[in-house]
Amino acid sequence: MPLRTERLELRYLRDADAGGLLRYYGREDTTRYLLDGPWDAARARDEVGRRRGRLHITAAGFAVCLVAVERDTEGGDAVVGDITLWAVDDSLSLGEASWVFDPDAGGRGLATEAARAVLDLAFGHYGMHRVRVRMDARNAASARLCERLGFRREGLLRQDWLIKDEWTDTLVYGMLAPEWPGPVTAGGPPRSQSGPR
Ligand SMILES: CC(C)(COP(=O)(O)OP(=O)(O)OC[C@H]1O[C@@H](n2cnc3c(N)ncnc32)[C@H](O)[C@@H]1OP(=O)(O)O)[C@@H](O)C(=O)NCCC(=O)NCCS
Repeated sequence: MPLRTERLELRYLRDADAGGLLRYYGREDTTRYLLDGPWDAARARDEVGRRRGRLHITAAGFAVCLVAVERDTEGGDAVVGDITLWAVDDSLSLGEASWVFDPDAGGRGLATEAARAVLDLAFGHYGMHRVRVRMDARNAASARLCERLGFRREGLLRQDWLIKDEWTDTLVYGMLAPEWPGPVTAGGPPRSQSGPR
């Protein structure tokens, strides 16, 4: 860390990032398909405090939380989004990713660029076997992002999330390690899975 892409630096969160995250999590349009939000300033501070400790994946539920900073913009480096990768189970072979980007920085491929770096982290660094992304089925921008990255659409779960007092459908996308075209380093043999199927 940090991870560097053509236009971005992906780094761990700092307390000073609360304002940057609030700029987009404070908006109705950004949080429309998220579990909750929009945030206020106190929530932004709490979230940054919680996510600052998420640095490495060592067990189920552990996550790496990163902010995407666009380098060398006119006003200096700017937080344009955040992206999280976590382990779904203790084998650490199954991961899940989620992303939230500032709409003001949208439509330029920055989320795609950040997600590619995080998929390299998942398949290359952590040697994961599979990464999934779940989203509100109405979230067309997130579905397009998955398809741009090469995820396969695997299923639609009907009304399985209660989001903002509404039962919503979930779209599931998945990618297996051999499907990831990035610079994947050789992983070790898969560890046996734990927990119920
Ligand atoms: C999901 C989300 C990150 C997608 O953002 P985005 O701006 O569409 O994604 P990108 O930054 O990769 O930009 C892609 C767009 O830029 C265009 N683009 C321009 N230059 C590009 C480039 N170099 N590479 C890729 N795409 C590029 C693409 O064609 C695409 O446009 P389209 O969607 O109209 O086809 C964003 O909508 C978001 O944060 N939503 C709110 C939070 C949310 O719901 N998160 C998902 C939870 S599962």
